[in-house]
Amino acid sequence: MNSRRKFIKNLTAVGATVPLVTNIQAKPKKNKGPVILCSRGEVWGEKVLRPGWDILSKNGKLLDAIEKSSNVTELDPEDTSVGYGGLPNEHGVVQLDASIMYGPTHNCGSVAALEGIKTPCSVARLVMERTDHIHIVGKGAQNFAKLHGFKVENLLTDKARKIWLSWKENLSSKDDWFPPADNNYDDNRTTGTINVLGIDADSNVAGITTTSGLAYKIPGRIGDSPIIGAGLYVDNEVGAAGATGRGEEILRTCGSFFVVEQMRNGKSPQEACEALCQRIIDINGGTKNINFNDKIVALGKDGSVGCASIKERKGNNPKLAYWSNDGFKVYKGTYLIEDKSVDYVG
Ligand code: GLY
Repeated sequence: MNSRRKFIKNLTAVGATVPLVTNIQAKPKKNKGPVILCSRGEVWGEKVLRPGWDILSKNGKLLDAIEKSSNVTELDPEDTSVGYGGLPNEHGVVQLDASIMYGPTHNCGSVAALEGIKTPCSVARLVMERTDHIHIVGKGAQNFAKLHGFKVENLLTDKARKIWLSWKENLSSKDDWFPPADNNYDDNRTTGTINVLGIDADSNVAGITTTSGLAYKIPGRIGDSPIIGAGLYVDNEVGAAGATGRGEEILRTCGSFFVVEQMRNGKSPQEACEALCQRIIDINGGTKNINFNDKIVALGKDGSVGCASIKERKGNNPKLAYWSNDGFKVYKGTYLIEDKSVDYVG
């Protein structure tokens, strides 16, 4: 093994005894014990976090905990915005994006436009731990997954196929596709995603973001989720952030990196999430131009949490769920614009 590979291998050894050398100052924070968080409310929150908390609370590995929790939504065909059962691209093909980042090594991995593999975050973890790369996309990502023993399967469930078909049949009155007389599918273009962030008992931080991306996207389009600094960012001295919603806005603000850097400069996770939403509104020229939504969640190294979205229906605050030594809790965040027509973002 050449010396560079040996160096990388040592860095990626889980348990990470190698401290990250950094001259970036962050306020020391007191750890309250392990915490695992996901960007959803009561129902999904409990389902998703239970296996991860089970691992973390028994002193298991942080990366195993966030991976197992993220796998819950990836494998659930009822969720149409992540993994198996996700809504497909405009050609009816499911293409998945996912990323992972581990604080102690500052290492990361991601896959994008990955077809046929139900658990893209597990493939992203292998990119991080078993290669010298960060992003692997498309056919290359599928081949890489196959080499690691993943099965290629049809990810388009009947439920997702029918919703996609309804979208296609209603696209235009100038083509040859007719919707059925009793068409009642909700074919809104969802960008739901899930972020799972965690801290272990040694105060190490990690995160995952996983999604099927924008429904009916142009084949090959990737959003913010697989891009480190956009849909996910982790800094072991500060905390972590993850985004859901319209990925293009998160990409052009380096959203998750922005939030973590705001936290480094003293903002609470809640203030940092709100600052990103405000930045997105500002770069779009103000509230009147916002015809999309984004939601951001953050976890401080001390276990504090934050959540904000750009707009919601009145009183419909965005939520996250988290599990710590104090049990399972749901946290209500804030929104910056009230809009009664807003769709659920994830
Ligand atoms: N945030 C998910 C996406 O835009 O693909």
